[in-house]
Amino acid sequence: MLPVYLIGNPILRRKSYDIPMDFPNLKVLIDDMFETMYAAEGVGLAAPQVGFNIRLFVIDSHPFVESYPELVPLKKVFINPRIEEEYGELFAFTEGCLSVPEIHEEVIRKSNIKITYQDEKGDQHTEHFSGINARVIQHEYDHLEGKLFTDKVSTIKKMILKKKLTDITNGKVKPRYKSKI
Ligand code: NI
Repeated sequence: MLPVYLIGNPILRRKSYDIPMDFPNLKVLIDDMFETMYAAEGVGLAAPQVGFNIRLFVIDSHPFVESYPELVPLKKVFINPRIEEEYGELFAFTEGCLSVPEIHEEVIRKSNIKITYQDEKGDQHTEHFSGINARVIQHEYDHLEGKLFTDKVSTIKKMILKKKLTDITNGKVKPRYKSKI
């Protein structure tokens, strides 16, 4: 398992760049990212969270099926993704993040997205996703833009969260998975 970078590390705030398909050890990195995500019981993991400012994330929304039986779970790798469009209803959903341990907050986003990306073979796709799958993708995509879900909560919530986030940055919160600030 790779160490997960926590809020406070500047790598989480940088915009990530596109990669060529012959990026060194890309397949190994993708495998390691899935392994890290599963070990930490996450539903998504973006490359900056493991120390690479590259446009790559992996998701597996399977764990949500228990609470949302109608969900068609999605396991997927997104390389060089671009969200072309966000549309549909605004909805509130509680998010968490392996880089922001022990914090869960409601975030409001649009319900549908149109995204283009390459898969692990380099093939280009344009697809639409909705509901929880769209939500997981939107959250991971934000990591590639240097954004965290805590940026998107209300001003009041931000004030309440401030101390907790500082505690993480100061190493006072130890997640049960391998991590690094
Ligand atoms: Ni996250």
